[in-house]
Amino acid sequence: MALRRADTISQLDDALSDARRGGQRIGCVPTMGALHAGHTSLLDRARAECDLVVATLFVNPLQFDRADDLTNYPRTMEDDRAICERHGTDVLFCPTPEVMYPGPQLVTVDATPLEGFLCGATRPGHFRGVATVVTKLLNLVAPERAYFGQKDFQQLVIIRTMVRDLNIGVEIVGCETVRDDDGLALSSRNALLSPNQRAVAPLLAAVLNDTSSAVAAGNGDASKLIAAARATLSAEPQFEIDYFEIVDPGTLEPVSTVTAPVRIAAAAYLGTTRLIDNVAASPPD
Ligand code: PAJ
Repeated sequence: MALRRADTISQLDDALSDARRGGQRIGCVPTMGALHAGHTSLLDRARAECDLVVATLFVNPLQFDRADDLTNYPRTMEDDRAICERHGTDVLFCPTPEVMYPGPQLVTVDATPLEGFLCGATRPGHFRGVATVVTKLLNLVAPERAYFGQKDFQQLVIIRTMVRDLNIGVEIVGCETVRDDDGLALSSRNALLSPNQRAVAPLLAAVLNDTSSAVAAGNGDASKLIAAARATLSAEPQFEIDYFEIVDPGTLEPVSTVTAPVRIAAAAYLGTTRLIDNVAASPPD
């Protein structure tokens, strides 16, 4: 089936009506575009598991806390469309801000107890914007399954919790982080890195992996692990660390001693570009 593009809600409803009537399994992959192999891994998984795949492409103003970040966010609509087509996507929903927010958004979705940690600590309002737009997209598409990457771990935890606590009838599928050969997690923002910044960027993943290995080897003192990781990252002067944390994977609360599986998550700036990444870690049995 050829890719159908829907720009409005009624075009989306038209594109989905046969599938809905026929009881087909709809899979949804929400994105902000500038698609790369991380996104296509979600599209491929949805294609393998669902009858009809809907990708959404919307650079959501509500989740940007810096105006320059919203302006500079990469927009590659024609490439994105071709990528969706190549990966067997059926419907590409590309609403404008006016379609998604025709008036002031008076009702928003908050996951306050999960927002104070990690990215939420330095990006006030970001996860309210994410949770609100994802709720709207899930209501519009009404998929059976929706696919999200572990790359944005806090986002995945918040969306899973939101769907559970608000009884949204969708299964959230969390997918592994796709990386470049040198370990750098793929991100639309990588396109903004200078060649020098790109050359040092894999250090973030390397330090996360080293910390995970240290945990597996029995080093459970979080403050020592974090201090060592920060020292290694700081040795590269181009990096400015936003956070480096070891957290409970369910509550996102920092742990002081690792006695159960944890998530190690970091964010750091290279120039004005903010990179995030995370890995799992478990202590020895
Ligand atoms: P965006 O950054 O475009 O990411 C869309 C989806 O792709 C998210 O679920 C994200 O976790 C996943 N993704 C990004 N990089 C990945 C990688 N290297 N490996 C695996 N998955 C990856 O996340 C958003 O958009 C927005 O916040 C959104 C959920 C669409 C709401 O606006």
